[in-house]
Amino acid sequence: GTGPGESLPPLDLPAARTAGCPFDPAPGVERALREEPVTRATLWDGSSCWLVTRHQDVREVLGDPRFSADATRPGFPFLSAGGRELIATKPTLLRMDDPEHARLRRMLTADFMVKKMEAMRPEVQRLTDELLDRMTEGRTSADLVAEFALPLPSLVICLLLGVPYEDHEFFQERSSILLSLRSTREEVRAAQDELLEYLVRLAESKRQRPDDAIISRLISRGELNSSEVATMGRLLLIAGHETTANMTALSTLALLRNPDQLARLRDDPSLIKGAVEELLRYLTIVHNGLPRIATKDVRVGGVTIRAGEGVVCTLNTANRDEDTFPGAGGLDVGRDARRHVAFGFGVHQCLGQPLARVELQIALETLLRRLPGLRLDIPFEDVPFRHDMGIYGVHALPVAW
Ligand code: HEM
Repeated sequence: GTGPGESLPPLDLPAARTAGCPFDPAPGVERALREEPVTRATLWDGSSCWLVTRHQDVREVLGDPRFSADATRPGFPFLSAGGRELIATKPTLLRMDDPEHARLRRMLTADFMVKKMEAMRPEVQRLTDELLDRMTEGRTSADLVAEFALPLPSLVICLLLGVPYEDHEFFQERSSILLSLRSTREEVRAAQDELLEYLVRLAESKRQRPDDAIISRLISRGELNSSEVATMGRLLLIAGHETTANMTALSTLALLRNPDQLARLRDDPSLIKGAVEELLRYLTIVHNGLPRIATKDVRVGGVTIRAGEGVVCTLNTANRDEDTFPGAGGLDVGRDARRHVAFGFGVHQCLGQPLARVELQIALETLLRRLPGLRLDIPFEDVPFRHDMGIYGVHALPVAW
């Protein structure tokens, strides 16, 4: 077609980062941002949707109740087969609209509020130091993902939820199947069933022997059955460790590749809070965008999106929009990046962001302070980036010090 938003050929989603810098959005979505910020796209299953790429337009869509996050609506745009399976069978608050969404989210707001998470600092610092003690004892190299970036948020979310950390291999394996863009429906269904069975059993045992962690407190409210508690627990368990883990490793790599920025941060640790916001903006690990569906005809960026049409909002292009972030393609730890949308925008904006901030600030500040000679231990070209996963990052990060 040649109507508004239809002059570029439809872009295939998820867009591939083939050549170019692995920290930058895929070339296809960057081109859309420059040339046709609201454009047509084709999903992996052959269905069509709109792609919304600019900062202002992304905030408009995510803040507008005429766009629904309810994944049970016909025509909802799924970014992978696994994603469709995961959501279609057991929807969580992430893919519901108000008032159900608000009702479920309210049960968790007190647990993740800023004050409560700030009070976790001493505990997060202790776990961080313990992991670094263990990683560095008698050694000069390690995989930063396996020994630091993944265990830290995993230990913290287990503590908050009341899930035994001894079981981490079991739930980390299941969660990586659920987040892989390559998993088949069958694989996703099996992983999902096993994870939910595990969490239902855990919920039942908390009914017998309550503690004061989140899963127990959800049960004692008396509003949810064990299966609903398990579904909520699954969302928090997966969101709570995969995201921060990948941000920690990818941020470390980005700083090692930008030695001037790394030096600024080492010289002035008071920059850490702003640096974490800038890294969230620059890296935008929720890299395939957020799916929504229009429930009314809505004009966005000069294009009319019709009721029933799917929309994908690419957060990584929004965070590289020059109109909002001049010099957006560069990492600048002194920048005021607070308007970034790495945590989304609107009613679904990340519930765990106060926790993610505390973890990232402590993990990065401590890592840089304790390991002044930190360096990459393999050629940059050999770093295994997570092109195959819904959450971007690296599968492993061999470092030396
Ligand atoms: C929602 C990103 C860490 C729990 C979201 C959304 C994004 C996001 C983009 C919005 C999804 C949408 O609107 O469709 C991130 C990033 C993180 C992070 C980049 C780390 C750097 C966490 C942590 C938790 C968490 C540590 C803790 C348990 C949640 C939950 C939602 C959510 C429960 C759903 C909120 C709702 O639908 O109302 N996150 N997240 N996230 N996040 Fe995070």
